[in-house]
Amino acid sequence: MRSAGFNGRLTCTLLKPMAALYSEIILDHFRHPRNYGSLPTPDISYEDFNPLCGDRIRIELKLKHRVVEDARFRGDGCAISIAAASLLTELIVGTDVGAVEAISDSWLISALESDIKPSRVQCALLPLEALRAGLRTHKLHELDA
Ligand code: FES
Repeated sequence: MRSAGFNGRLTCTLLKPMAALYSEIILDHFRHPRNYGSLPTPDISYEDFNPLCGDRIRIELKLKHRVVEDARFRGDGCAISIAAASLLTELIVGTDVGAVEAISDSWLISALESDIKPSRVQCALLPLEALRAGLRTHKLHELDA
């Protein structure tokens, strides 16, 4: 269930039915994604994919004293996954890693303020799962160092 993407490829005919389905938050973050792109020297960079559709989201973080100093994401996904990645990267900047690790599935779903169907929950959680996996991998590297 792929969308047409978000880089100006959406047409008005697609946006009208989308507006009826999604919250203002999802539409806003999908149309104007925050923190899209890459960091020059990320401390964490992890890409995950949704096995149901193959869409991928990469999350990158710059950390300073266990606080997220900067965050970026990139990838190709549906409106829900792009909006969730945009919102998530916006919310975690300036946050302690421990608090980021404590973000729950239900918290992110609720922050999107939309009635996300069970079949699309995986879309919303894709960036959060990439973030968690990136943090886990970073921790393992810290332990090895
Ligand atoms: Fe692929 Fe939503 S349809 S992430």
